[in-house]
Amino acid sequence: MNWIDIAADDAVPPGDVIGVETAGLDIALFDVDGTIHATDNSCTHGDGRLCDGFLEGHEIECPLHQGKFDVRTGKATYAPADKPVRSYPVKIENGRIWLAVG
Ligand code: FES
Repeated sequence: MNWIDIAADDAVPPGDVIGVETAGLDIALFDVDGTIHATDNSCTHGDGRLCDGFLEGHEIECPLHQGKFDVRTGKATYAPADKPVRSYPVKIENGRIWLAVG
């Protein structure tokens, strides 16, 4: 696996979401009960950016049309979102958040 260093391990406020652009990727990072999850930041339905959405539990609501995704898997859980967003394996090491990008 190819791991990239994406942010400090305290970059995501508890229960919140941030966007990070790095290495040609646009990533949304989520903190759910102290666990970091990562998906693509672009909604699969349109131009919504998930980092501007509303995180409730393990679901992110897109700010544009209120479609929802499970941030643990990227699965679309509420219409009009119906295609998954890509999710990425995450590890925390040396005070940093690392993403596996393939
Ligand atoms: Fe995200 Fe439409 S752009 S639900």
